Parts: sequence; structure tokens; C-alpha cells
Amino acid sequence: MVTSGPVPTIRSAGTDDLAGIQAIEWEQFSHLAYPYFVLRQLFELHGTDWTVAEFEGRVCGYVLTAISAERCAWFLGFAVAGHCRGRGFGRNLLEAALEHCRKARADRVFVTVRPDNRTAYRLYEDVGFVRSDHEAAYFGRDEPRDVLVHKLYHC
Ligand SMILES: CC(C)(COP(=O)(O)OP(=O)(O)OC[C@H]1O[C@@H](n2cnc3c(N)ncnc32)[C@H](O)[C@@H]1OP(=O)(O)O)[C@@H](O)C(=O)NCCC(=O)NCCS
Repeated sequence: MVTSGPVPTIRSAGTDDLAGIQAIEWEQFSHLAYPYFVLRQLFELHGTDWTVAEFEGRVCGYVLTAISAERCAWFLGFAVAGHCRGRGFGRNLLEAALEHCRKARADRVFVTVRPDNRTAYRLYEDVGFVRSDHEAAYFGRDEPRDVLVHKLYHC
């Protein structure tokens, strides 16, 4: 259950946020975390589409969005720092990132999720994602992922 309380500031990302994002990546994803240099280079391409949550002066969550010229968007990263979970920050971030994709006129948004990651899976489904595919070794051995899609515009 989400507890009520202070709300984070949801805003677009800047280069000053990268160290905070990387720290959360490392905390949450260990060997699958994006290294700082990858985040820095992804930022050059897609940083204007990234959404962060700031709480008490620090980045406490993010959605790393990439949108192609063909209006296809991917959420390449999504996490909330452990000490900020269960307060609705994750849902706020997802809704803000989806709104950004709508404004950018993306047709659809994709994301991958481990089938056993019930918290993230349920949250994605709650905001409108549905399963579109499954790969048993999406990120290599023992790293299965479901691919979920959210259709923003029906053409
Ligand atoms: C997934 C994640 C971003 C959710 O962040 P969060 O800020 O805790 O999410 P919210 O507080 O908005 O909660 C969303 C829903 O999940 C539920 N939830 C949160 N933590 C939960 C937990 N540990 N167990 C079960 N449900 C949980 C909440 O009750 C809420 O449901 P509700 O709105 O129906 O009450 C966070 O758990 C996380 O960073 N996980 C590790 C990284 C990860 O798995 N990222 C996704 C990769 S695909």
C-alpha cells in the first residue's frame, strides 16, 4: 500500500543528475546497472526525454526514456531508491514519463520486465502496459524478460 506524505518534484533530467541515477542503478540492478559512461552517452542522445523524481534535494527515482524518429518510445530504465519506495513516487514517475511520450507524439512505449518482478509488473499493468513478447535470455543466461507495450495512439 502506498503511504501518503511528502511528494517529490518530478522534472526533466540534467547532467548533474547522472551520478544520482547511477547510484540508484547500482543499488537496484547490480551487474545489470548502467555504468556512468553509458548513462552519459545515452544522455547525449535522449536526456531531454528523461524524467527524474527529486526529494529532499536528491534524485530518488527516474525513468530513462528514448524516443525514435518513428515515434516508438522505450523506457530503458526505471527505479526508485530503496528508502523512497512505497510512497507513490514510482507511479508518479511512470505517469509523468507517459505524459512526456504523449506530448512528444510517440505512438507506443515499450519496456522490459522480469516476469517475477511483481511490484514493477503490476505497476506497469496499472498504468496501461500489456504483455507483447517474452524472451528467455533477453539479457543473457538466466535473465528472462517480458516485453510490455503501451499504445498511446491507435492508428
Ligand atoms: C518498481 C519500483 C520503481 C516501484 O517504485 P515505488 O516508488 O515503490 O512505487 P509506488 O510507491 O508508486 O507503488 C506502486 C505500487 O506498487 C506497490 N508496491 C510498492 N512496493 C511494493 C512491494 N515491495 N511489494 C508489493 N507491492 C509494492 C504499491 O502498493 C503500489 O500499489 P498501489 O498503488 O496499488 O497501492 C521500485 O520498486 C523499484 O525501484 N524497484 C527496483 C527496480 C525495478 O524493479 N525497476 C523496474 C525494472 S523493470
